[in-house]
Amino acid sequence: MSAASFDSMWADLDPVGRAGSGGYRRFAWTAEDHTLREWFAGECARRGLDLTEDRVGNQWGWWWDGPGTVDEAVAAGRKAVVIGSHLDSVPDGGAFDGPLGVVSSLAAVDRLRAAGVRPAAPVAVTNFVDEEGARFGIACAGSRVLTGQLDRDRALGLTDADGVSMAEALRAAGRDPDAYGPDAEALARVGSFVELHVEQGRALVDLGAPVAVASDIWPHGRWRFDFPGEANHAGTTRLVDRRDAMLGYADLVLGARHVATQRGCVATVGKVRVTPGGVNAIPSHVTGWLDARGADEDQVIAMVDELTARGQEMGATVTRESWTPTTRFDAGLSERLRRVLDSAAGVSAPVLGTGAGHDAGILATAGVPSAMLFVRNPTGVSHSPEEHAEADDCHAGVEALAACVRDLTAA
Ligand code: GLV
Ligand code: MN
Ligand code: MN
Ligand code: MN
Repeated sequence: MSAASFDSMWADLDPVGRAGSGGYRRFAWTAEDHTLREWFAGECARRGLDLTEDRVGNQWGWWWDGPGTVDEAVAAGRKAVVIGSHLDSVPDGGAFDGPLGVVSSLAAVDRLRAAGVRPAAPVAVTNFVDEEGARFGIACAGSRVLTGQLDRDRALGLTDADGVSMAEALRAAGRDPDAYGPDAEALARVGSFVELHVEQGRALVDLGAPVAVASDIWPHGRWRFDFPGEANHAGTTRLVDRRDAMLGYADLVLGARHVATQRGCVATVGKVRVTPGGVNAIPSHVTGWLDARGADEDQVIAMVDELTARGQEMGATVTRESWTPTTRFDAGLSERLRRVLDSAAGVSAPVLGTGAGHDAGILATAGVPSAMLFVRNPTGVSHSPEEHAEADDCHAGVEALAACVRDLTAA
């Protein structure tokens, strides 16, 4: 039952936003995103899950057979068990990062219903908007604004590569930016959040296990480096007369690799914007985005300080766009899930940390007891079309998630 429902949902989603590379382009508040949101609403309707949206636009599909309404259950102390993830992608991203969690959550509901389970607390499946920050630059924007960790005015003012602001994008998607903002009422319904996600490394391959429980997320952030220069002719301008913005940028890229190596961190410059962008024009401006992470928060901060000083020496203005300190998932909840998997699902789940950010981390920071399950990825690759999970492991993930929800909602 769960395998069949998983497989058919997966097949329905597959064409949405598929690019020539074999990867996906599913960015917040675009036509592809609209299709994905409609798909989610349709899956909720098909199951009789009541669909709500919070003030950010995150979607929630509610499974609650009473007594009373969801809000009455919450008021009576039965807060919801929430499962889900996101449907958006990075540019040319894989199929699994995000959608695996949403599809598995819907399949887990099917699985539990088929087994005749009646939860003693409401269950919600969520689709968080704009997790990757691919369009507007800040990852987990949907959960950050929901929880007040990203100022709504700042979020509305963020712009995409075409200069379209988040506020304009919301309006174009038929939404009212004035209604956009933190939503304490929506958050107050959540008793716990469990996000299932494809593993984004190869630990489970090496350990020979299909499913893991997460322990923590590395501290991570994004910084914008703006290097000024002066446009001029590539053929007629003597080298000594040039102010080439690209040189500072090149120094940042090499410096990031060097300093990250020294400090045991990771650093990536994966996005660059060159102005005016002509092969035969000296760049007048280069913007590069640094993504910095590591297990040791002090080392990450020291690395970014060093790269900031180095960039400033090259004339850069450096702006911090986001920062997420070390996030630890709820130890009691995680241990409970590990025991459930051991006994109910017969899976001995290792416990893994990760360098990837997730909405579950943002909710954990907001004080919501949160946990994650990871499903084995045989390539160990993510944020790329190479990302993968075998069907059997996906089905094992659904079983594991269903067992967790069953335990968390038992009377
Ligand atoms: C989001 O997937 C991130 O960790 O960059
Ligand atoms: Mn991702
Ligand atoms: Mn993800
Ligand atoms: Mn992520």
